[in-house]
Amino acid sequence: MKLILLAAPGAGKGTQAEKLSEHFNIPTISTGAILRKNIKDETELGKIAAEYINDGKLIPDDVMISVMADRLGEDDCKNGFILDGFPRTLAQAEALSASSIQIDKVLMIDVADEKIIKRLSGRLECEKCATTYHKDFRPPAKDGVCDKCGGNLTVRKDDKPETVKERLNTYHTQTEPLIEYYKNIGILRVAKGQEEIVDTTKEVLKALEA
Ligand code: AP5
Ligand code: MG
Repeated sequence: MKLILLAAPGAGKGTQAEKLSEHFNIPTISTGAILRKNIKDETELGKIAAEYINDGKLIPDDVMISVMADRLGEDDCKNGFILDGFPRTLAQAEALSASSIQIDKVLMIDVADEKIIKRLSGRLECEKCATTYHKDFRPPAKDGVCDKCGGNLTVRKDDKPETVKERLNTYHTQTEPLIEYYKNIGILRVAKGQEEIVDTTKEVLKALEA
């Protein structure tokens, strides 16, 4: 299964990608995680990414397209993958369509902006393995510590309320047109985001069966 997760920031792409990755036994490719790792390691890509991410803007298309062409060409992607965060613009979607990669389905997780603001204001992320938690909705067993790897949990820099507003704005103007693009191709599926993470997963799996 070659799957794209398409949703607003904070709608639960990363959280559902983790569940789907276990369910289908295929890797998740998270562009945000790749970029944050590069920022941490102070690579050339990280230096470019830092200029945009912390303002809630998108990294230029040519940079992202080249990063993803390399990543999707790696061996672990041969039997399928889940894309969390790519494509995010029409130019990126068109580049993917023009490549030899055939996407099976695009899943849109539908969540209202007001809910997103609540979710992002309580989000915590593992510094080491990037697993995502929420102080109320998905608390770790031990405060500040990742259940999976024992890493330190931190707040993402771009989860500040003013940056979240800008990220939502970027999503509505630059990424939302992809809904129509994939609907026209006939591979769009929609799942309504639920209050509980497990209930969203049920909706997601149901939508993918269609
Ligand atoms: P990225 O890391 O992809 O961020 P994003 O799209 O803004 O999405 P988030 O990671 O914030 O949200 P999510 O949907 O994964 O939600 P989560 O599962 O964590 O990208 C970061 C930046 O990188 C971009 O702004 C851009 O600058 C750059 N970038 C990335 N890709 C790019 C590209 N292709 N082109 C150009 N630039 C690019 O859930 C959120 C919270 O809610 C969590 O705390 C979670 O525990 C909780 N939660 C989840 N589901 C539920 C539920 N059902 N009920 C209650 N709480 C829930
Ligand atoms: Mg994410």
